[in-house]
Amino acid sequence: MADGAVDHPFRPVTPTRRSGKPVSIPRFLWIAWREPLNMWSERHFAEPILFGRSALGYAINVSDPAGIRYVLLENAKNYDKGELQRRVLGPMLADGLLLVEGDDWKRARRIMAPLFTPARTATSAARMREVCEARVSHWLDGRTAGIINIDREMTGLTFEIISATMFSDMLGGEAAQFERALTGFLDTAARIDPLDVLDAPRWLPRLGQIAGGGMARFFETRVAQLVRDRRALIDGGAPAPDDLLSALITAQDVDGGGALSEREVAANILTFILAGHETTARTLGWTLHLLSHDLAAQQRVQAEADVFDLADPNWAEAMPWTRAVIEESMRLFPPAPSLTRRARADDVICGQAIPAGTAVLITPYVVHRHKLLWDDPDAFKPERFLQGNREKIDRFAYIPFSQGPRICIGAAFAMQEAMIALAEVVKRYRVDPPGEAEPMPSHRITLRARHGIRLRVTKR
Ligand code: HEM
Repeated sequence: MADGAVDHPFRPVTPTRRSGKPVSIPRFLWIAWREPLNMWSERHFAEPILFGRSALGYAINVSDPAGIRYVLLENAKNYDKGELQRRVLGPMLADGLLLVEGDDWKRARRIMAPLFTPARTATSAARMREVCEARVSHWLDGRTAGIINIDREMTGLTFEIISATMFSDMLGGEAAQFERALTGFLDTAARIDPLDVLDAPRWLPRLGQIAGGGMARFFETRVAQLVRDRRALIDGGAPAPDDLLSALITAQDVDGGGALSEREVAANILTFILAGHETTARTLGWTLHLLSHDLAAQQRVQAEADVFDLADPNWAEAMPWTRAVIEESMRLFPPAPSLTRRARADDVICGQAIPAGTAVLITPYVVHRHKLLWDDPDAFKPERFLQGNREKIDRFAYIPFSQGPRICIGAAFAMQEAMIALAEVVKRYRVDPPGEAEPMPSHRITLRARHGIRLRVTKR
């Protein structure tokens, strides 16, 4: 047994998997709309690739690490993100870094990369900690124990961190409004609409977009205001805060690509708010849920948190269990559960010929629980990610942040933030299950808990 392993690891509940029998297209689309996690059958978790043709066109599911490496890295130029992702995320984000392609993407990534270097990321650690401390220390308001809505708290916390570090607090105080709008957006507009999959004309109103329209307007208005305020500050001659917002507004691309357009600035603000806080919030929620069911792991993380000291430049290396627990949590509950690509030209993936236009699905949720890649895939075993074991994991079998040129620009920022936030929580509190039904994962662009995550929190 590996160092730190326990005899009876916790196995969180998982949605039932289809048997693999073919289903009709209307039924499949209904499943995709209701709960995309139910699209995966036992075969998906057992086969390296699955290729097929339906009335909707060709599709290949790639879970073989060599195939994932090929699509995301070696021949990445043949795979773009395709229309579906743009449609699901809607016009608000279409011109942001997450969704643009080709030269527009190269230019935007070049402009934003300096904000995410390891040195730059490290400078935000102290501010992250301050925000965590201020928020988490008030959880129980003098009580010694209580039930906390962890998902809501984590959304508020990561929103405040992104607001403090990327927008110099210009969004401060609006976490609750943003959270409401974002949850509404993810629950309604940002869904896989059968009409989109069928490529129905744009003038046909989509169910979710009707419901999500109000939320979209809230974001648009608020972001326009944010840009106006910052521009006024810069134009007035005040020193512009050295943050993402200023970088977006004042960007002059060194390679001559020019500045970002108004649309690009707005789309990137929303992209960073959405990509930069929702994913980390879900990571923290699932991690605390898992720890509430594994007291031994919780105690190891507490022991590290008790001596956590940001003044030590090697603080992160001194917290191997904290990192391992977060990594294992993102294996079981990848915050971005699926990556979709479209083949631009005919190609061959893992020996399978695919025609141009094939939809390529790389699904971290499936890959991370794949029977050929993991021992006891559905069990929570953080020791997989401790030194000695971690090195044996294929870089393309564990892809919470994706890989290749489109790898998450905020991966290091997110890991730093998650480690600091987790330490600040477990240093103060013990977490236990609240005595309710266990949270069930649900794919809403990010991997959320269907009814949220609540935990019993006790002052240590
Ligand atoms: C645990 C937290 C996070 C996870 C799991 C995560 C995951 C991912 C994944 C899987 C992608 C690739 C998507 C694709 O190729 O289809 C991505 C891209 C991206 N992420 Fe993250 N992310 C996290 C946190 C963050 C943070 C904190 C930021 C910003 C502050 C951020 C900003 C972005 C952006 C802008 C992209 C697009 C990059 C590009 O295409 O060049 N993410 N993220």
